[in-house]
Amino acid sequence: MKVLVTGCNGQLGNELKRLFETGTAEIGPIPALYQDADVVYADVAQLDITDEDAVNAFFAAHEFDVVINGAAMTNVDGCETAEDAAYRVNALGPANLAKACASQGAKLVHISTDYVFPGNAAGERVETDETAPISAYGRTKLEGEKLALAANSKTFVVRTAWLYGYVGKNFVKTMLRLARDVGHMMVVDDQVGNPTSANDLAYEILKIAETENYGIYHCTNNGICSWAEFTRAIVARAGYDPAIVTPCTSDEYAEAHPDAARRPLFSALRNKHLEDTIGDEMRLWQDALDTFMANLPEFEG
Ligand SMILES: NC(=O)c1ccc[n+]([C@@H]2O[C@H](COP(=O)([O-])OP(=O)(O)OC[C@H]3O[C@@H](n4cnc5c(N)ncnc54)[C@H](OP(=O)(O)O)[C@@H]3O)[C@@H](O)[C@H]2O)c1
Repeated sequence: MKVLVTGCNGQLGNELKRLFETGTAEIGPIPALYQDADVVYADVAQLDITDEDAVNAFFAAHEFDVVINGAAMTNVDGCETAEDAAYRVNALGPANLAKACASQGAKLVHISTDYVFPGNAAGERVETDETAPISAYGRTKLEGEKLALAANSKTFVVRTAWLYGYVGKNFVKTMLRLARDVGHMMVVDDQVGNPTSANDLAYEILKIAETENYGIYHCTNNGICSWAEFTRAIVARAGYDPAIVTPCTSDEYAEAHPDAARRPLFSALRNKHLEDTIGDEMRLWQDALDTFMANLPEFEG
């Protein structure tokens, strides 16, 4: 079993590495199939996925069974002002990988986002619901899904949301820093979604990639909340008073941050394809956050 992880220095890439190295995720051991896998890790310095020639040369040197694309331009506001660059990484990159996978019969797991949905309807979105992104990030990620699915029949698109891992920048760490250094924060209370542990996602990706049920999956921790509720849960677990979180509306936030990208109001996902196939092992977001908060000091040194 030979596996390629692209964007390996990112949040998800780091958790995948941890799973392959230790043989286990927080929610269970990884499938036996991967126990002795030969895993190649590459970030942009080793493999720029936007460079088709470089991708082809990289694949010429290896025979992969599974390719997991963790590479992306994930700065949602940054994508808004650099949509061309975002398109190259989020759309052309997965297309290059999908074509290279098809040429050698490899499976591709491409990671996507809840931001492909407009977020204008209550109720958790399932995989077959209509997409209509409202940001450059969402548009470029949706295009990446389409191109990857079209170029390789062995493609899994795994949409996740509100991701946080032990390594890298994320919302949980930012809120902890604000709690410690500033003592209060204003957080939107009218955007609802699913906070998701990168460790849990990495586990479920390996389970999905064992199968041949190709297509689109939603994969988030279970349960939904607003960013403000999520923040109260984070700061409370760190011993701060949840009252340090001041809720605001998206409109109020936009007024204070005019350059910020629009985000969907209701982008919560339901893991329907998982439920219908291998089963949905994703935990409640509160349980995943408990584990993360307990383990974080070990990583922060
Ligand atoms: N983070 C979230 O909240 C969230 C939510 C929903 C979906 N997702 C999706 O989940 C996946 C993993 O996200 P993540 O949070 O782990 O991302 P991340 O931490 O931002 O990591 C992405 C990695 O890809 C690298 N990269 C950027 N351009 C590249 C290129 N041209 N070639 C190769 N590597 C490149 C980045 O390097 P640099 O840092 O040097 O740019 C970074 O190491 C992405 O597909 C993302 O869209 C994330």
